[in-house]
Amino acid sequence: MAESMQGLKRTHRCTELNAGNVGETVTVMGWVQKQRNKGGIIFVDLRDRSGLLQVIFEGSDIDAQGFEKAEKLRSEFVIAVVGTVEKRAGAANDNLATGEIEIRAKSLRVLAESETPPFQIEENSKTKDELRLKYRYLDLRRPDLQKNIILRSKISATIRDFMTKEGFLEIETPILNRSTPEGARDYLVPSRVHPGEFYALPQSPQLFKQLLMCSGYDRYYQLAKCFRDEDLRADRQPEFTQVDMELSFVDVDDVIDVNERLIQRMFKDAINVDVSLPIQRMTWIDAMNRYGSDKPDTRFGMELQDVSKVVEGCGFGVFTGALENGGSVRGINAAGQGEMPRKKIDALVEFAKTYGAKGLAYIAIQPDGTRKCSFAKFMTEAELDTLVTAMKGKPGDLLLFAADKNKVVWDTLGALRVEIAKNLGLLDKNQFNFLWVTEFPLLEWSDEQNRFMAMHHPFTMPMDEDWQYIDSDPGRVRAKAYDIVLNGTELGGGSVRIHQNDIQEKMLEVLGFTKEKAYESFGFLLNAFKYGVPPHAGLAYGLDRVVMLMVGADSIRDVMAFPKVKDASCLMSDAPNTVDEKQLEELHLALASEE
Ligand code: AMO
Ligand code: AMP
Repeated sequence: MAESMQGLKRTHRCTELNAGNVGETVTVMGWVQKQRNKGGIIFVDLRDRSGLLQVIFEGSDIDAQGFEKAEKLRSEFVIAVVGTVEKRAGAANDNLATGEIEIRAKSLRVLAESETPPFQIEENSKTKDELRLKYRYLDLRRPDLQKNIILRSKISATIRDFMTKEGFLEIETPILNRSTPEGARDYLVPSRVHPGEFYALPQSPQLFKQLLMCSGYDRYYQLAKCFRDEDLRADRQPEFTQVDMELSFVDVDDVIDVNERLIQRMFKDAINVDVSLPIQRMTWIDAMNRYGSDKPDTRFGMELQDVSKVVEGCGFGVFTGALENGGSVRGINAAGQGEMPRKKIDALVEFAKTYGAKGLAYIAIQPDGTRKCSFAKFMTEAELDTLVTAMKGKPGDLLLFAADKNKVVWDTLGALRVEIAKNLGLLDKNQFNFLWVTEFPLLEWSDEQNRFMAMHHPFTMPMDEDWQYIDSDPGRVRAKAYDIVLNGTELGGGSVRIHQNDIQEKMLEVLGFTKEKAYESFGFLLNAFKYGVPPHAGLAYGLDRVVMLMVGADSIRDVMAFPKVKDASCLMSDAPNTVDEKQLEELHLALASEE
């Protein structure tokens, strides 16, 4: 039967005790990791969020009742033990922080019993994800998850400390907002009071933080919950946390400066990694040309080579056809992989096709210098020689080529170099390569919508020298936008904002808004800017992603207490769920019958 706390006070967490406490009487509380009964002497590993501690129950030290209770202890019982700290009788356990000591119990209270858990609470659990997520409250007891969640708390504390010292004010912005176009799909909340109307949950506090600048708060930050109804991936959740900030009277370099120091502080405090400043910067076009990605992983080379000029006029229709259509031919050199078995090369070809490539051409240079080439019959030996030389191909290298529109070529080879590096084990989780990607295009053509879309968001300032092309060649205009990238993951992004109404209105016009529609959607921002708005800029990190990379987790789920699964449901609480007819009625909603 469960006993109460009455009169008991915990003196230490498990791992706060060490050899320095020998001889002291202490009170510890936690969960039974394991109980071993050796007849007359019982060993219990006691666990709390700090770690494990060994407790000994021996008949001579504890009353008969206490010993009987100890005999019945099972995994996950919650207990309180009063006892004395002793040096371990046996050999010290070097694997435990408390391995030199043990507690000799004088009394025991069973605060709660436990059924046999559906899986063992242990580090590196092999239990299936579905089961772990269904019993997330038990999963969260596991030391590796506890380590992540505790580290996350520490990082939040560091951020708050740093931002406060830098003069930022923490200001909350609303969760119930109006739905605005542009961006991902919104999560909507029906209004009871306004029939047929809906709130939208924020995808980010973007407009509000800009209004706070307009209101004179100068520097704002917030650990903000954001919601986006988009497809889930390993680094994406429908609800996630941004470290969101905005600054007045600044330009790109000011934002980068304060954020470099924030990154340095976070990595030092949380995982004792020294980030040397300044962080490397690369323009978007350089990132695409060299790495085929706007978030390049710079932990390894294997850079893209543009061989369009080299293959111009060759006999291989795939190459010349791509060039004639305004595309390019580019390659990567997977050095030392020339003897890759055909099956593995075929797998890479299939991988490439998932990025829209129609194929992947290759030259596998054997150690003896002979070549296996998927397009040998279309090219002369001399042409192949020139191509190999352009790719700096040496005996033993594997050269892979994609020919298509630039976007397809970049996407394909960009993903391929990461895939190959992964297969070869070149990605060291303990190496932290930061990179600023700057000068993003302002606009991106959408075939689906048949119009330009904002690459970052519609409030991003164009580069002064490019604004002249907004009508003649909109795709050429670059933006004062920047992303911070770590090891191939976009940690955060931001921009200088448009603070001139004429530029903002023009921008919305290019995005296909009529003036009326623009004011209907963003009027509160456009109107606010008529009353004196300072130049301002900002940035937001995905906090979950920051923590994920710091702890080397493969999924963002491992750093969130209660994550959702791929179909955006919660396996533990079963959200989302159906609601009563009455609730629907109050909200003026009726369900459309499913076809
Ligand atoms: P952006 O849309 O780039 O910018 O988002 C900023 C950062 O938020 C993280 N992030 C996510 N993390 C987990 N799950 C998701 N579904 C998800 N979506 C985004 C990423 C991303 O870099 N208001 C602007 C910022 C600004 O301009 O100041 C914004 O939201 O790490
Ligand atoms: P085929 O003539 O179809 O046998 O193609 C010869 C080689 O070119 C094969 O290795 C194909 O995978 C490759 N290939 C086909 N389309 C492309 C493309 N767009 N870019 C690069 N390689 C391609």
